[in-house]
Amino acid sequence: MSMSVAVLAGGLSLEREVSLRSGRRVAEALSDRGHHVVRLDLDDRLVTALAEGQFDVAYLALHGKAGEDGTIQGLLELLEIPYTGPDAVASALAWDKAIFKGLARRAGVATPAWVALSADAIRDMGAARTLDRVVATLGTPLIVKPAQGGASMGVRKVSAANELRAALVAAYSYHHVALVERFVEGAEIAVSVVDGSPLPAVEVVPRGGAAYDFAARYTHGATDFYAPARLPNSVLEGCTELALAACDVVGSRQVARADLMVDGDNRPWVLELDTCPGMTETSLLPLAAGAAGWDFAELCERVVLLAAKAGSPSVA
Ligand SMILES: Nc1ncnc2c1ncn2[C@@H]1O[C@H](COP(=O)(O)OP(=O)(O)O)[C@@H](O)[C@H]1O
Ligand SMILES: [Mg+2]
Repeated sequence: MSMSVAVLAGGLSLEREVSLRSGRRVAEALSDRGHHVVRLDLDDRLVTALAEGQFDVAYLALHGKAGEDGTIQGLLELLEIPYTGPDAVASALAWDKAIFKGLARRAGVATPAWVALSADAIRDMGAARTLDRVVATLGTPLIVKPAQGGASMGVRKVSAANELRAALVAAYSYHHVALVERFVEGAEIAVSVVDGSPLPAVEVVPRGGAAYDFAARYTHGATDFYAPARLPNSVLEGCTELALAACDVVGSRQVARADLMVDGDNRPWVLELDTCPGMTETSLLPLAAGAAGWDFAELCERVVLLAAKAGSPSVA
């Protein structure tokens, strides 16, 4: 069945270029499959285009704030247009890492110990006193990251206490709340979930022992990916269970990707749930789908069909 699909990509977030790459690929794949596809940017023409476009589905290839914090999802619900990925509430809950991790902890879903610190509060409470206490409790190494953001932007490893302050300042340039989180040494694993079923876990190994930062993500050849991941089956099962539990924590649906670390004792920890996973050449969801035997177009089409089947959530 041929459908009319609006592919939303771009926007003004820091991840605009990545989103445009995802969107272009998705749009090409869906039109090759015979669907009528229109690409829309997140600009002042978007609402009219959506309202008048008679689309069967909106495919969200947006990354970063506007695409992932629930705003666009809420708008599409208002316009009664079915869209891909988790609904507005689930998106909003997953987008803020402090909220997501808090919900995970409450549900008994393993996530590394952390504290969320706003720039204002640290100033009021005295940075030195606060940070000394944080290090005394969480130890080192630590990782500091903006509570809201993506693509590893503003994420820094802190090996010694005296590096913490600079790492926080770096994170605050992206968002006014930062997480200080226990660093998990081990394998980095992503588990994508489509329609409640996990795809094969993908292992992420940046070349030369580097961090999985923006360059490692989007430079061809900078990172080695293993799909399925090179871990014992029992460990991979643990990863899969954790990813499914992470989806349940926010009430995810259709498609999402959980980022995990597996420590030296083979214990998995969830870092975050990405509700608009990247669809570029080096993105993890398409790699996982490939390991399951789906080509890229099949993945896109499955995601669109899930959205069409779910229909538009009711706002009434
Ligand atoms: N607690 C942690 N321990 C070890 N590495 C981490 C930890 N948190 C984040 N990282 C590293 O930083 C990257 C980005 O962190 P993540 O929480 O996934 O945020 P985002 O992908 O939204 O920027 C991860 O892919 C991982 O390489
Ligand atoms: Mg991540």
